[in-house]
Amino acid sequence: MEDRNAELIEKILSLKQRRSTVILAHNYQLGEVQDIADFVGDSLALSQNAAKTDAEVIVFCGVHFMAETASILCPDKTVLLPDINAGCPMANMITAEKLREKKREFPGATVVCYVNSTAEVKAESNVCCTSANAVKVIESLDAREILFVPDQYLGHYISTKTDKKMILWPGFCPTHVKIRVQDITRLKLEYPQAKVVVHPECRPEVIALADEVLSTGGMCRFARQTEAKEIAIGTEIGIIHRLRKENPGKKFIPVSEQAVCPNMKLITLEKMLWALEEMAPEVKVPEEIRLKAKAAVDKMLEIGRG
Ligand code: 13P
Ligand code: SF4
Repeated sequence: MEDRNAELIEKILSLKQRRSTVILAHNYQLGEVQDIADFVGDSLALSQNAAKTDAEVIVFCGVHFMAETASILCPDKTVLLPDINAGCPMANMITAEKLREKKREFPGATVVCYVNSTAEVKAESNVCCTSANAVKVIESLDAREILFVPDQYLGHYISTKTDKKMILWPGFCPTHVKIRVQDITRLKLEYPQAKVVVHPECRPEVIALADEVLSTGGMCRFARQTEAKEIAIGTEIGIIHRLRKENPGKKFIPVSEQAVCPNMKLITLEKMLWALEEMAPEVKVPEEIRLKAKAAVDKMLEIGRG
């Protein structure tokens, strides 16, 4: 395995030199994929990075909506998603058509979409947000009524931080709902000193038991800065690789080993190599949709991190 990986890594690095290429990887990617990436981060940092890269080719190691966001921001670049089937089930819980219907029901509402959404849904939204800036984005709006799609749990978390009226779409992340209250209570018995950090995609009853509610990038920052030596992580377990690598003196405990996003795990070194050899599969957003979606993404990037 080690030898096979070494061979793949060598080939990927040599192909990268053929055309200027940047490898961006989400914090949930397999360890070996994170290790070969030029940049590893949360959804917001990956969008910011894609927006400013000079590279001609972006190999996006994440899920489809992330590669689409890169394509929305960089229409002249080739954005490769090494497995085109790496989707986000939450993003697929709403369509542009269903959103249009809901907008007709609430004509006075400002539409905020979580970045975990398709380009078509972004194109129907006023502004986009990630888990790193959701509250800041909502608070920045001169609007009383917000239609928030598609994550009901992130939406609920925001509603506890704002006075605005939030209308929530009933979407959810199938990976984060696997994290249960019992997991946290059991963990607190075993590690009474541990700080519990969870992602805002978790259920409200799980969030209520946490010390911190953070995006994956926020978790990495928190882990570096905290005095705590034991940190329980309530999100997809791929992030543990990065946390352990960056903080060798601290102990990271996954709140639930069940919190695995199968789509994130579809990206492998083999598929990255194949993508670079074939310059495929490419993710490209049609221009008409791209321009509308870009307006929502640009507004989010102007606001920055929360
Ligand atoms: P972050 O933006 O916090 O990295 O989260 C992305 C995601 O898909 C969480 O499930
Ligand atoms: Fe989508 Fe959940 Fe996977 Fe994130 S962890 S990409 S929200 S399915």
